[in-house]
Amino acid sequence: KVANLKGLKQGQLRLAVITTAKYIIPRLLGPFCQLYPGIDISLKVTNHEGILDRMIANMDDLYIMSQVPDRLDINYEPFLENPLVVFAPANHPLAQEKNIPIERLADEPFIMREPGSGTRRAVQNLLEEHDVKVKVKLELGSNEAIKQAIAGGLGISVLSRHTLLTDAHEFSILDIQHFPIKRTWYIAHPAGKHLSIVARTYYDYLLDAAKKIVENEIAPLSIKIDLPPE
Ligand code: PGA
Repeated sequence: KVANLKGLKQGQLRLAVITTAKYIIPRLLGPFCQLYPGIDISLKVTNHEGILDRMIANMDDLYIMSQVPDRLDINYEPFLENPLVVFAPANHPLAQEKNIPIERLADEPFIMREPGSGTRRAVQNLLEEHDVKVKVKLELGSNEAIKQAIAGGLGISVLSRHTLLTDAHEFSILDIQHFPIKRTWYIAHPAGKHLSIVARTYYDYLLDAAKKIVENEIAPLSIKIDLPPE
């Protein structure tokens, strides 16, 4: 009977997710689609500003973002942490040091995300708070491109810990004071927007999957790595 009910859940699910979430959301869609083969999905990956634009234009059913705007009337629920950490090449001289003062960031060539990125905003806020000016050597609009640039020795950067996958051996996470920057992923939609059965089904599925990740029942690669001490 349950199987029949699942078969009835048909239609389209339109998701828009911020760039850091693409390291986990597609992975979780696999089991979801197996459960609900009648649901077709379109997934847009964009930065924080792109998510806001899409939300205002009412383009998707559900949004995944890590910073909820005050100026929009939206419903949202946190589901997983999204800590931002300092990435350096594996062999970086600071890799062995502990409790490094944040001012040290000013001495390293820095790779920065593009304007409109929530990661960039969070990094800038922290740096401003501590009056640290970094030397931006390169600006890049992609977490993956930043990782390649770091691995290539161009500099260091701040990225979501979730971007670290099987390539973890290529990087070190520096133990810099005031890091990780604590952020959380939210599932959100404009307040007052009626959720379709399909969207509601995904919403519940995601919250449940996230709970299982936290409880380690399922462990995507990106979740398993321990955070450095704060
Ligand atoms: P971004 O999203 O791609 O806008 O940096 C990540 C985030 O806001 O955590």
